[in-house]
Amino acid sequence: MELVGIDIGGSGIKGARVDTKKGVLRSERLKIPTPKSKKPKDIADTARRLLDQIGYKQGTIGIGIPAVVKDNICCTASNIDKSWIGCNVEELFSDALGHPVNVLNDADAAGIAEMTFGKGKNKKGTIITLTLGTGIGSALFRDGILVPNTEFGHLKYKDSIAEKHASNGARKKKDLSWEEYGKELNDFLQYIDFVFSPNLMIIGGGISKKFDNYKKYIASNLNVTTAGNYNDSGIIGAAMSAYK
Ligand code: BGC
Repeated sequence: MELVGIDIGGSGIKGARVDTKKGVLRSERLKIPTPKSKKPKDIADTARRLLDQIGYKQGTIGIGIPAVVKDNICCTASNIDKSWIGCNVEELFSDALGHPVNVLNDADAAGIAEMTFGKGKNKKGTIITLTLGTGIGSALFRDGILVPNTEFGHLKYKDSIAEKHASNGARKKKDLSWEEYGKELNDFLQYIDFVFSPNLMIIGGGISKKFDNYKKYIASNLNVTTAGNYNDSGIIGAAMSAYK
């Protein structure tokens, strides 16, 4: 089945047509910068422009957003405008896009793609996908079942919360060298490993493409790999979530 997946991030809104049975993009991956206001209406209008560019409007459209989504209500807003909190995201996007939508957390979307087509495929036990971008997203699976909205990037950690230390956003903001960043990431992964004893941790987000730059700082006791679809998992998983 071919469906559109849209991945809304802190810096860009990305989307494409996806073959949800094969887990591959069926059109070029398009990206529009996230509007500066990061308000619901501006982001929904930008998603509409992206959909027009993708030029394909069949079936339900899957949308990943960087927030907790419970019963179609957005419950958090860390790297987006606070007016998202309490917003009915199903109504917001279906009105703006003129199509039925399914909205879920962006990292959960990436995790769904990884568990079906990527490094988590056919793997049992506790598998955690961590997306390292502006913030840190997490998707926790136990024997293939998703526990949604886990938000490991917001665990209280060191002097603040985890994503202020180990996200790609933190690396850029603090201008960390790869060595400094690799050590920060290792500390965070050790923490997650201690709390959850995962069988595997899968690193996603754009920075997973640069894993070679920092993998030597990740200790060998950790079972860590990079996402199979790199930064496309969010788009692929969003489209998959829309296939009912
Ligand atoms: C948000 C998460 C999101 C992650 C990655 C965090 O700041 O709280 O919901 O998954 O960023 O975008």
